[in-house]
Amino acid sequence: MTTLLARVRIVVGALTLLGFAVFSHLVAAQQPTSVDPAGSAVHEEQLLQQFKTIQGRGSIPDVKSYTIEQPAGRDWRHFHEVTLRWIGAVAIVGILAVLVIFYLTRGMVRIESGRSGYKIVRFGAYERFVHWMTATCFIVLALSGLNITFGRPLLLPLMSPEAFTAWSEWAKYAHNYLSFPFTLGVILIFFMWIAGNIPNRVDVEWFKRGGGMVGHDHPPAERFNGGQKAIYWIVVLGGTAVAVSGYTLIFPFYGTDIETMQSATMVHGIIAMLFIAAMLGHIYIGTIGMEGAFEAMGEGTVDINWAKEHHALWLEQERARTGPAQSQRQPAATPGE
Ligand code: HEM
Repeated sequence: MTTLLARVRIVVGALTLLGFAVFSHLVAAQQPTSVDPAGSAVHEEQLLQQFKTIQGRGSIPDVKSYTIEQPAGRDWRHFHEVTLRWIGAVAIVGILAVLVIFYLTRGMVRIESGRSGYKIVRFGAYERFVHWMTATCFIVLALSGLNITFGRPLLLPLMSPEAFTAWSEWAKYAHNYLSFPFTLGVILIFFMWIAGNIPNRVDVEWFKRGGGMVGHDHPPAERFNGGQKAIYWIVVLGGTAVAVSGYTLIFPFYGTDIETMQSATMVHGIIAMLFIAAMLGHIYIGTIGMEGAFEAMGEGTVDINWAKEHHALWLEQERARTGPAQSQRQPAATPGE
């Protein structure tokens, strides 16, 4: 009898233990974590690690605002705070380094035959207006956009939070409102210069000969050479891409959901960084990189010898069209050139 009782006790004890183990397992399975989300001492980061999405209930019609955290949002934040900063830094600092090295080794591309003293009209007043309007908007858009990406780590430590807030607010207004004349400029540029920017065999030859930048070669070019055509298409296609993605952000959730909005900021940021790098190259060639280039867009005229060296086919076409009388005497040599 005693032995029987002892055996029953052992079986009951074992069953109780087993039941307790199964019960605890079930309880643990129902709770995704050991964290009590309602606990006041729960750290936000701990919650984020345990739950994929943090959602609540709300009383406003905007249902998507009930989702406070979601995995794609965290990926986006990582892109915005880490990946995009790397892309921007490598593209912009990289191109600046290349340009400095190029300038130190090659120096300014000079008018090798010297100035002739005669000038030819290269860009009319309307063309220069459209160029400078678009360029001015671009520079403000680039600086105000870079402030969104790099302002916090680079500028905030240098100024008071109030000053940084005020500057960022104005920069954001400028970014939003100047997007309109910028887009108009890109559209006008597209129509104004499309005829001279269709790639052809002359450009292939121009690229094969290093565009006259390497060595002292002067491959013939039409009104726009291969490099300028590349810049034209970067402006037209890059401008369209930043405009489409940018307006998606300015007018949020009009036919777009949260995923599209996140993709739009990523596309916008990446294209903007590459666009800025390409334009730094363009600005270099148009200023300190090449003698006589800036006056084409500044005054609208270039020296005949500059045209001979850099756009020989265009000069021939212009002479055939208007005759040599179109060239005018240069008023005075620019000092320091
Ligand atoms: C039609 C033209 C454009 C529109 C409508 C536009 C609009 C916008 C909007 C709404 C944002 C988001 C701002 C925010 O998060 O509060 C933004 C960000 C930004 N934009 Fe633009 N933009 C345009 C052109 C440009 C251009 C030409 C550049 C540079 C060359 C540029 C560079 C940037 C940069 C770097 C950011 C920050 C990206 C980030 O850190 O996530 N944008 N833009």
